[in-house]
Amino acid sequence: MPHVLTTIAEAKEVLREVGKTDTIALVPTMGALHDGHLSLVDIAKRNATKTVVSVFVNPMQFAPGEDFERYPRTFDDDLAKLDAAGVDYVFAPAVSDMYPEGVKQTRVVGGYAAGLLEAAHRLAHFDGVLTVVTKLFNIVRPNVAVFGEKDAQQLFLVRRLVRDLNLDINVIGAPIIREDDGLALSSRNRYLSTEERAAALSLVRALSAAASNGDRGIREMISGAQGALMDEKLVKMDYVSIVDPETFALVNEAYRGKALVLVAARVGTTRLIDNMSAYVGEYR
Ligand code: PAF
Repeated sequence: MPHVLTTIAEAKEVLREVGKTDTIALVPTMGALHDGHLSLVDIAKRNATKTVVSVFVNPMQFAPGEDFERYPRTFDDDLAKLDAAGVDYVFAPAVSDMYPEGVKQTRVVGGYAAGLLEAAHRLAHFDGVLTVVTKLFNIVRPNVAVFGEKDAQQLFLVRRLVRDLNLDINVIGAPIIREDDGLALSSRNRYLSTEERAAALSLVRALSAAASNGDRGIREMISGAQGALMDEKLVKMDYVSIVDPETFALVNEAYRGKALVLVAARVGTTRLIDNMSAYVGEYR
C-alpha cells in the first residue's frame, strides 16, 4: 500500500527525508482515477526513484455553479489503483488544511495564456490551478512533475509557471489516452449517459476533421471541426480554436506550421475538452 499522507505537516516532514536520498516525481490529481492517470504514474515512475500522487479536489479552481460538490470522490478505489500501480506516497490533504482561511488568499495568476480559451468559460479557473500546483510543488518539492496533455492549456501554463518563477522542476507532458473508439479518458466521462457518450465522440471527430484539413488553412480546419460538433443535437460547442503550441497564441489564416487544435463542448450537462496536434500547410 502507498504511504498515505493526510496533512501538509506530515507530507513535508516525510518527503523532506525522502528527498535526501531519492528523486521525487509528483503526479497531481483530483482523484476519480482512470487509465489516463495511471499512464502519468507510469511516466513518473520511470523518471524518479519515488512517486507521489496527490489526490485533492481543489475548490479554488471551480467557478461558482460548476461541479465541485458533485465531482466524483472515490478515494478507496483510487488508493487500490495506486497500490496496484506501485505508487510510494499518496498526499490527500483536507480542504481546511490547504485553505485554512478559505480560498480568498494570495493567488498565482498566469500570463496572457491564462486569459484565453478555458478562461473565458471558467472564471478564475487557472488562478486556482496555478495556486494549488504551486502549493503542491512547495509541499512535495518534486524533481519531476507529470501532467496530462489533455489539459493542454493547463500544461502550457504550468510549464510557464516553472520557467517564469525559476522552479527546479522537470515538467513532463503525458500523451492523451483514448478509449478504442477515440473518446479521451476523463474523470467527467462517468457523468455521461449512453446517448451522451455516443454524442461525445463528436469531439474527437471534430479534432480529426480539423487535423485532416491542415493543408486547406485555418478557416477550413475550424469549419470542419464545427460541422462535426453541430451534427450532434446533445452537444453545445464552447469553442474550437487553433493555437501555436510553442506560445499558445491563437493563429490566423496566414499561419503555417505545427498547431494544436482545441475543443470544448457541453454534452448534456457535462463539459468536456480535448485536443489534437495538427500541421497547417502543405509541407509536412
Ligand atoms: O488536472 C487536474 O486534475 C487538476 O487541475 C490539478 C492539476 C490536479 C490541479 O488541481
